Amino acid sequence: MKQESGATHPIWEDNISLPTTDHLRENRKCDVCVVGAGIAGLTVAYLLAKEGKHVIVLESKSIGGGESSRTAAHLSTALDARYTNLINTFGEDGTRLICQSHTRAIDKVSEIAKEEKIDCDFTRVDGYLFASTRQDEEKLLKELEAIQQFGWMDVVLRKECPAGSLTALPCLHFPNQARLHPMKYLAGLAKAFIDKGGEVYTDTHVVDFKSGPVVTATAKSGHAVSANHLVVATNAPANDKATIMTKQAPYRTYMIGLTVPKDVVPDALYWDVQDPYHYIRLAGNSAKDDGDTEILLVGGEDHRTGQENNPMKRFQDLERWTRTKFPMAGEVRYLWSGQVQEPVDGLAYIGRYPCDFDNMYVATGDSGQDVTHATIGGILITDLIMGRKNPWAKLYDPTRSGMKGAGEFMKYNLNVATQAKDYVTPGEVEDPAQVMPGTGGIMRDGTNKVAVYCDQDGVRHKFSAVCTHMGCLVHWNNVEHSWDCPCHGSRYDPLGRVVTGPARKDLDPLK
Ligand SMILES: Cc1cc2nc3c(=O)[nH]c(=O)nc-3n(C[C@H](O)[C@H](O)[C@H](O)COP(=O)(O)OP(=O)(O)OC[C@H]3O[C@@H](n4cnc5c(N)ncnc54)[C@H](O)[C@@H]3O)c2cc1C
Ligand code: FES
Repeated sequence: MKQESGATHPIWEDNISLPTTDHLRENRKCDVCVVGAGIAGLTVAYLLAKEGKHVIVLESKSIGGGESSRTAAHLSTALDARYTNLINTFGEDGTRLICQSHTRAIDKVSEIAKEEKIDCDFTRVDGYLFASTRQDEEKLLKELEAIQQFGWMDVVLRKECPAGSLTALPCLHFPNQARLHPMKYLAGLAKAFIDKGGEVYTDTHVVDFKSGPVVTATAKSGHAVSANHLVVATNAPANDKATIMTKQAPYRTYMIGLTVPKDVVPDALYWDVQDPYHYIRLAGNSAKDDGDTEILLVGGEDHRTGQENNPMKRFQDLERWTRTKFPMAGEVRYLWSGQVQEPVDGLAYIGRYPCDFDNMYVATGDSGQDVTHATIGGILITDLIMGRKNPWAKLYDPTRSGMKGAGEFMKYNLNVATQAKDYVTPGEVEDPAQVMPGTGGIMRDGTNKVAVYCDQDGVRHKFSAVCTHMGCLVHWNNVEHSWDCPCHGSRYDPLGRVVTGPARKDLDPLK
C-alpha cells in the first residue's frame, strides 16, 4: 500500500489486500457520486448501494489512503467533546440523541461486519476515562453528572482503573465500546460495495464540483461523473472555501505502537482528560501477534496543523508519557501521525451542503471520533437521499451556526488571522543550497515566500509557498515530509501535490 507522503508507517497498512480498482478513464453517469474512499465515503456508498442506488466513488489516492488508515479506531460513546460541554450547547434532549447516534453507529458497524462477513477483529470492549490528578478527578465527576442528567445510567465511577499502572485515582467506566482493524474493515466494506454493483475509481483526484439539478465532479484528468446526488466525504470538504472550514480546525495527532507482555494490559479502551489528551488500546490479534508480546497503541500530543516547528518532539513526549504509565512497555515498533478536524461545538457536520440545489451533501468534522461519526453520516445521508426522516438531521446539520461554540469559533478564526504574520517574517533559509537532501525549507524571495524541497539526489524543487485554498503560507513538516498549511490544514507532498484538502490544486511550481 501507498504511504501518505513519507516518513511514518501506520500498523494497519501491514498485509492488507484491497479490491483491485482503476482510475476514471471516461465520463460517467450514476445516481450518487461519492468523493473520498475513507470510512465516511465508503459507508455511505455501501448503504446507498444496498438501497439499490447506482453509486460511483472517486478517490485521489487508494481505498483508505487518507486518515482512515491512520486512525486508532476506538469506537466509543465517551465523546471527546465531553458531555459537560455538549449539554450546554445542545441541551439534554439533543445530547441524549447524540449519545444514541454514536451507540447506534457502533451497533451498525457490528451489523455490517457480521452481515458482510468482514474479518476485521471487531471486538466489544469496555472504556475507561481516567484521572491522573485530583483536578482531573473533578472533571470526571462533572462529566458523570452531565451523563446522568440526560438519563444515561450505565456509566459508573470505579475506584480503580483495570490498567493499574495508569493511575491510582478513580475512572469512569463506559460499557460496550468497541475496537476494530480499520483497514480490514474498509477492505471488506469496499468489496461488499463493489459486489452490490458499486464502482470505485482510485488515483482520481477531483478538482471541480458543479452544482445543479445534475451535479458534476470533474477529475484532474478532465473526465467527469454526473449524478443526481453528490456526497463530499473528503475529510476536510474539498468543495468548501469558508462555509464549513471556518467552523472547524485541523489538528495533527500522533501515535506509537509498542510491545507489551501479552495479557498484562487488560483489553479495553483508555482515555485521559488532560490537555494534550491521550488515548490507548491494544492493537488486537489481527493487527500483530508476536508470541509473548502484543502491541499497545498510544495516541495524543495533538497540535494545530502546521503550527509545530518540531513535530518529532511530539513522538518523544508521547513515548516518555507512555513509559511512565506502562513501565513494562518494550520497543517502539510503529509511529505515525494523522489529522483530525475539530468542529467548534464538538459535533460533526453531516447533511446537505448549503448551495443553490439540495442534492450536495457533506460529511466532515470528525472530532477524532470518525469511525462512529462516519457511520452516523452513512445512515443520515442515506436517509436524506432516500427521502426518509432522520431524528439526527437537525443536530448534525452543516448549516448550523458556528456561534453554538462561539468561544471556540472566535479562537479558531483569530488563530487563522494571526497566520498572516508569515508574510512578513524572514525565511528559514537564505539560499536553496541550505536545504539538505530529504528536507524542505521556506525561503524569502523579495515579497514572496518560496517552498524549497531538496530530493535525495540533491535536486532542489521550488514552489510558491502560498496555499491554493485561501492563500496562507505552508510550513515544512519533517515527520510526514509534507508542506502543511496552518490555516485550514491543507497538506501537500514534497513536490507540491495535494495530499489533504480542503485545497484541490497543487502548489504552483517555480523555476
Ligand atoms: C491518529 C488518529 C487517530 C484517530 N483515532 C480515532 C479513534 O480512535 N476513533 C475514531 O472514531 N476516530 C479516530 N480518528 C478519526 C478518524 O478515524 C479518521 O479521521 C477517519 O477515519 C477519517 O475518515 P474520512 O472518511 O472522513 O476521511 P479519510 O479517511 O481521510 O478519507 C477521505 C478520502 O478523500 C480523499 N480525497 C480528498 N480530497 C479528494 C479529492 N479532491 N478528490 C478525490 N478524493 C479526495 C482522500 O484521499 C481520502 O482517502 C483518528 C484519526 C487519526 C488521524
Ligand atoms: S488550508 Fe485554507 S488557506 Fe491553506
